[in-house]
Amino acid sequence: MKILIATEKPFAAVAVEGMRKAVEEAGAELALLEKYTEKAALLEAVADADALIVRSDKVDPEVIAAGKNLKIVVRAGAGYDNIDLEAATAAGISVQNTPGQNSNAVAELVFGMAVMMERNCYNGTSGTELKGKRLGIQAFGQVGRNVARIARGFEMEVSALDPYCPAAAMEEAGVTPVDTVERLYSENSVVSIHIPATPETRGSIGRDLIVLMPKGGLLVNTARKEVIDEEGLIQALTERPDLKYAADVAPAMANEMKALFGDRVFFTPKKMGAQTSEANINAGIAAARQAIDFLTTGADRFRVNK
Ligand code: 3PG
Repeated sequence: MKILIATEKPFAAVAVEGMRKAVEEAGAELALLEKYTEKAALLEAVADADALIVRSDKVDPEVIAAGKNLKIVVRAGAGYDNIDLEAATAAGISVQNTPGQNSNAVAELVFGMAVMMERNCYNGTSGTELKGKRLGIQAFGQVGRNVARIARGFEMEVSALDPYCPAAAMEEAGVTPVDTVERLYSENSVVSIHIPATPETRGSIGRDLIVLMPKGGLLVNTARKEVIDEEGLIQALTERPDLKYAADVAPAMANEMKALFGDRVFFTPKKMGAQTSEANINAGIAAARQAIDFLTTGADRFRVNK
């Protein structure tokens, strides 16, 4: 039984150690492919693996086909838009994620970036505080809930939009449910995006929504760059010099945006939301356990493909 960890952006060493321990205790073999730059390396490494553990690594039909022994792919994290579910299903492979395991790390980064943006990237000028500001959370999943929890410490007024989450669950968390995306953007001076990248959400946040934000608005995106209509974002930031945008992972048009908007925009060069030891340990070890359990007992609780 061979379990391959393939991470272009590696886990912290301490997380890999924990994963190795879990795999070896189960009598399985661990293979490690880190920081690979060529897809060929992944195709070769996956050839004899029974399980594949990845992060944002692309698992496309070619990777699936190369994994002749593959029975399970675990995305150590939340979003699985990097995995071709159809190809996996057709090959009889279970695809799982590890929901919630890295969500605190992502939520903390929301506030790290929000404080920095409200303080004008610490450029010596007076900024503003989060206290008393209105925060709108777009999607009240695991990350959204953690964002709401932390926002209470900042004494922000929090509301959220999530058609899949009952209003009562939001209210219980001290969050005001909002019923339209237009209201979410027009009523909140900080909006934090937590929707997954799906065919419906790709490019769904553009000029018309962003310009609804109140004066001095800040849009924070720790979800996926693909949910933003980048031309529309540029238009909105051009029309509204008071608005700002911070994103955990640079947009395709990052250079143009930096040149146009300077400190009104901020981008991490690599996705950093889940890049903490704690999140790596939680998500990595959960992924290893899920892979082992599936291979030994068929446990399929976190399966995301049908
Ligand atoms: C996720 O979907 O879990 C986060 O975006 C983290 O992604 P990463 O593991 O590639 O950092």
